[in-house]
Amino acid sequence: MNQALKSALTNFSIRGNELCWGDMALSELARKHGTPLYIYCERIIQNKQQLLRNLLSENLHIYYAVKANPNPDILKIMGNFYDGFDVASAGELKRVLDAGFPAEVISFAGPGKSREELRCAIHEEIGCISVESQQEFEHIVQICSDVGKKASVSLRINPDFDLSGSGMKMGGGSKQFGVDTEKAPAILAAMADEPCINFKGIHIFAGSQNLHSEALLSGFENILKYAASLQQQIGIPIQWINMGGGFGIPYFAHEHELDLEFLGKGLDNLLKQYSSLLGYPKFILELGRYLVGECGVYLTEILYKKTSKEHIFLIMDGGMHHHLAASGNLGQSLARRPMPLTVVNRQNFPVEKVHVVGPLCTPLDTFGFVEIPRAEAGDIIGVFQSGAYGFSASPQLFLSHPAPKEVVIPV
Ligand SMILES: Cc1ncc(COP(=O)(O)O)c(C=O)c1O
Repeated sequence: MNQALKSALTNFSIRGNELCWGDMALSELARKHGTPLYIYCERIIQNKQQLLRNLLSENLHIYYAVKANPNPDILKIMGNFYDGFDVASAGELKRVLDAGFPAEVISFAGPGKSREELRCAIHEEIGCISVESQQEFEHIVQICSDVGKKASVSLRINPDFDLSGSGMKMGGGSKQFGVDTEKAPAILAAMADEPCINFKGIHIFAGSQNLHSEALLSGFENILKYAASLQQQIGIPIQWINMGGGFGIPYFAHEHELDLEFLGKGLDNLLKQYSSLLGYPKFILELGRYLVGECGVYLTEILYKKTSKEHIFLIMDGGMHHHLAASGNLGQSLARRPMPLTVVNRQNFPVEKVHVVGPLCTPLDTFGFVEIPRAEAGDIIGVFQSGAYGFSASPQLFLSHPAPKEVVIPV
């Protein structure tokens, strides 16, 4: 069986032909709220949080990367479960404040923060601005002197190593993210000297969607080793070490879950080794999809079933305008492969191979050529692992269809 689908369905049960969340059939939820629909199951988020708390060192602070899913109800849940938020724009920053959380738990990264966004972050006195270039640092100093405020900052560094096995790499080689290691010492010294700057430490985000715990561990070890040698070189205490994250979830047929137990033990050993060496800094992981990816299901109704030549097409009322990742166009991998999906109300039916497509006038709007239970118009397709980079990462205005509903199913 498709490993990713198997992994996603461990959270659900089957009653007759219906896939169910607790005692609710997913097809009932689809009818109740109307399709296309995203459901987010709070219990799955909670289970993940408990797993992380059990398996990761208490010394690790977990920040939620808002870009994964900025839905206001999700933010409220995440703020109660985790230590802070990583935001990537003033818009995300505002969403976190609107959800009722204090500015001090927010850190802000992104290679292209506008002056307006920096002014907003400084005005709100957020916990940490992750500076990504010399010019950005100069803008911050200027704004601080204009408005008479101090800014808490860290330096995002583009490491010399990359993170093998990552779906997307944000570090190593020539990159738009952060400053290269050769340039870091001079900027760090300037930060530490600048009276309007409260210098906190460093930030390295090497990659995302990584399912290889050994590769992740070796990435973290590289970061800690680098931080220790940097601290010695510059002679300035580095009290905030944001080590990024990159924990992945299975999306495709051959992918298995991350070995969190192994990763947790390895991280614990690394922190024991480096904590005293570094003077007991605050260690941070910023995670998105690992925290919320599995809680979400995108539910759409089949509008039409038709054949063209020898192929069967199921045409849904939802598509890539709500779920770009499911169409394989968000860049999770080079190959376009189907995300885990099935017909949620036909579980015991014989399977057939069909093209699952959206309503848009483009062949890109295709969720896959897949073997799924035999379906008819009116049945409901569920795309699993859809809690992260779903609706908010999609070209929703394309073709002017209505937005999908998003519903959090409470515990
Ligand atoms: C700086 C930074 N932090 C956190 C994340 C979240 O990554 P993920 O959702 O894979 O955990 C990203 C993703 O692009 C990122 O660029």
